[in-house]
Amino acid sequence: MLPPGPRLPSAVQTAWFMRDAPGMLESFQRKYGPIFTVRYTGFAPEVYVTTGELAEQVYRTDQGGGRAGEARRDFLEHMVGAHSVLTLDGDPWWQHRKLLNPPLRAKQVAGYRDDIAAIAAEKIATWPLDRPFALRERMQDITLEIIIRLIFGIQDSGRIGRLRALLPDLIETGGSMPVVMLPDKLRRLPYGPHARFARLRTEVDAILFDEIRRRRAAPGGTDVLGRLLDTDLADQEIRDELITMLVAGHETTATGLAWAFERLLRMPEVLERLPDDEAYLDAVVKEVLRIRPVVYEAPRLLDAPLELGGYEIPAGWYAGPYIPLVHRDPAAFAEPDEFRPERFLDDPQNRAQNRAQNRAWMPFGGGRRFCVGAQLALLEMRIIIREVLHRLELTAPDQAPEARRLKNVTLAPAKLTRVTARARTPARTR
Ligand code: HEM
Repeated sequence: MLPPGPRLPSAVQTAWFMRDAPGMLESFQRKYGPIFTVRYTGFAPEVYVTTGELAEQVYRTDQGGGRAGEARRDFLEHMVGAHSVLTLDGDPWWQHRKLLNPPLRAKQVAGYRDDIAAIAAEKIATWPLDRPFALRERMQDITLEIIIRLIFGIQDSGRIGRLRALLPDLIETGGSMPVVMLPDKLRRLPYGPHARFARLRTEVDAILFDEIRRRRAAPGGTDVLGRLLDTDLADQEIRDELITMLVAGHETTATGLAWAFERLLRMPEVLERLPDDEAYLDAVVKEVLRIRPVVYEAPRLLDAPLELGGYEIPAGWYAGPYIPLVHRDPAAFAEPDEFRPERFLDDPQNRAQNRAQNRAWMPFGGGRRFCVGAQLALLEMRIIIREVLHRLELTAPDQAPEARRLKNVTLAPAKLTRVTARARTPARTR
């Protein structure tokens, strides 16, 4: 038996999703329960699950039967290339993943702490004062700079400047509907968005390949590129993984930060305890990613039928947790609609609840395909929040919460987190 789902034509489900994905999927959950089928035009049907327990069963297919790479390939391969951990599966995926894991472990990325703080401070000093602006764009400036300087390890200011100008454009054009959805034949046209995308990619690649060549001539360095050069990856494979970390790690982290401030500026009692209580800051970041997860789904393309929640999902379909609703699963999170960082503070009285909660907390996905950059992202969020709060007093010009709006594979604050900044006088000391 197949999981229930709406009888609406697939074009209507697709249009509804584009207009209001959270509203649509929440309404299907209310109507059909924790597992339901959605049909999008041009794709195989997708089964969404909304509990921690069912999500775990989907992630278990990473051990065989589910392909996360192929589920992402159509949207990403033109940007990240053919050798990316995002889009590979099976042995080739594991060959790359085991090389990317070590430089992105918590212990390794902790070495970037001071550099991240310095980059944040440098950028925050340029923010406008006393007039509203969109915080998410400013966060993107910071997270982009972190990728260019700490992941790619580029130091030359001219090249940093070139990449600063090119990379946001490359991602924006590469993620735009006409480029993602264009049939192959039209992709070869010498004009239009795809041609523009191809030009940008050529320019960026020239800089990256040149950097790889220079670095091979002078090995070493603590940046991620330096560590990848120590492996047996070919230049093209390294290029693909550098762009992968940019595509996967730049907007996602900036959006997480934008949500953090969108929520915090509406909760003075939480803001008051920040930023110097480290454990509380860590709990706040986790609670932000629970209540406003940035990436909304983590689908697997099934190459074998999957028994799930009493149904059998056919091979060739997608199955994926819908993360915002898993994060509101009352079996895992008490009073799930409340913003309560305390739930992430260690509570020895409540170990069983903590375990259930940790298993259902999945802003970074799960299984073997769990986000490789999670530790870096969490570190960036903690440090950048602290740097901002030490330097500026932010307020929201409008206290109404910002809606969640679909932006590529993320849910972002609809107004990109509008804030007004005032200098803190005197600056808070540490
Ligand atoms: C708040 C920020 C971030 C969020 C919310 C996020 C979320 C995710 C999610 C949901 C997945 C899919 C996992 C799955 O399918 O089970 C993923 C995969 C991935 N992420 Fe992140 N991510 C973030 C930051 C980063 C950063 C900073 C990097 C790189 C430096 C990164 C690199 C990757 C890569 C390479 C994958 C693919 C892993 C694989 O398939 O083996 N992410 N991320």
